[in-house]
Amino acid sequence: MDKLVIHGPTKLKGEVTISGAKNAAVAILPAALLINGVCRIENLPNISDVKMYCKILQELGAKITWITENEIEIDTRDLSCTQAPLEMTSKFRASYYLLGVLLGRCGTAEVGLPGGCNLGARPIDQHIKAFEALGAKVDIAQGKITAKAKKLVGTSIYMDIVSVGATINAVLAAVLADGTTTIDNAAKEPHIVDLANFLNTMGADIRGAGTDVIKINGVKELRGNATYSVVPDQIEAGTFMLAAVASRGNILIKNCIPEHLDCITAKILEIGGTVEDYGDSIRVSMNKRPNKATVKTLPYPGFPTDLQPQMGVVLATADGTSTLHESIWESRFQYTFELNKMGAKITAQGKSAVFEGVKELTGSPVYATDLRAGAALIIAGTIANGETQLYNIEHIDRGYENIEEKFRNLGANIQRVTEQIEM
Ligand code: UD1
Repeated sequence: MDKLVIHGPTKLKGEVTISGAKNAAVAILPAALLINGVCRIENLPNISDVKMYCKILQELGAKITWITENEIEIDTRDLSCTQAPLEMTSKFRASYYLLGVLLGRCGTAEVGLPGGCNLGARPIDQHIKAFEALGAKVDIAQGKITAKAKKLVGTSIYMDIVSVGATINAVLAAVLADGTTTIDNAAKEPHIVDLANFLNTMGADIRGAGTDVIKINGVKELRGNATYSVVPDQIEAGTFMLAAVASRGNILIKNCIPEHLDCITAKILEIGGTVEDYGDSIRVSMNKRPNKATVKTLPYPGFPTDLQPQMGVVLATADGTSTLHESIWESRFQYTFELNKMGAKITAQGKSAVFEGVKELTGSPVYATDLRAGAALIIAGTIANGETQLYNIEHIDRGYENIEEKFRNLGANIQRVTEQIEM
């Protein structure tokens, strides 16, 4: 069992290079199964969710060649199976994209009910609604979702709520459907645009990704025979932006797309930080205690829920009382109990948390309650006085490439330690 041991406080300074986006990669990898041919994917983050997805694709009959640790070639000409291995798919959320993909390519799909971070109820009614609208029959029984269709036919789908996953699954199922599909009230996150760009590069006809109306003209087949590079990770870039602010540091964040980060930049300016935009990199610095703020998470282009815990660390030591409103996930404040162990004064109730800013945090044993909470606690350990031991870091390894090395390069005193469990 690995843990991270962090000694603080450190003002983080230097450069960091952002990896490919986790949430784009875990949509693009299954999307490759829609291709009847070979494709190359570059700038894949070297994280455990990507490795797990590659194993699942291999189980389904795809041939994968690793060119480097961030680049693969996938040959999907001979798919042999439409049943995704249950013990693997039930471990992470994005496995449900296999439903849209296998339904689109083979007309039948069987996937374990998805796992992933425990952020509260994570219904999939909008995914099912989209599949049914396209002509599929969907059943849930014995921990599995089964979808079948003789033929998928393009249609109009109105999403009752803005859902990243349901938008992606509807796109995946519609790419090879007969005729045109329109998705209204679609999610607009950068990784939805990236998925559409990947599929269009491979031969699909998808228009409007990045707006709330996406139109998919079904094509007969995707031939592949092309190379695609995954977009830089908006959430990883935002994590380092907020790490710079929380630690009163100065970080040049390279290989990012500044417009994906506009709402984070706006909040950083509001609380007294500085952000310089260099086109494909940004420098974030802070030389005082942050001002208090009110932050509400929203679908893109609003403040991302996946940066809410990292923002929470900033507000924990801000000057005054701040409020965070979480509007996407009902259980996303579990990290606040860990921060309180470090001396923060946070009261979380329902969808809001009130942060009474303290001058400093103190190191403590803490637990990563989910992926982004884990990243937030690394930042907290970096700014806290003394030693922090961070447990359950397998959550962090799901979504951040070389995280402790990246923090170490910025001056953090952070080590990965393997604890022997005595039997
Ligand atoms: C994705 C991201 C996750 C991020 C979230 C919100 C991936 C792999 N994960 O998750 O990191 O936190 O977007 O930006 O990209 N909902 C329903 N019915 C549905 C689907 C969703 O009610 O059928 C609700 C959810 O409970 C939630 C909201 O819609 O309250 C948004 O969820 P959604 O955008 O679907 O999140 P994910 O795609 O699971």
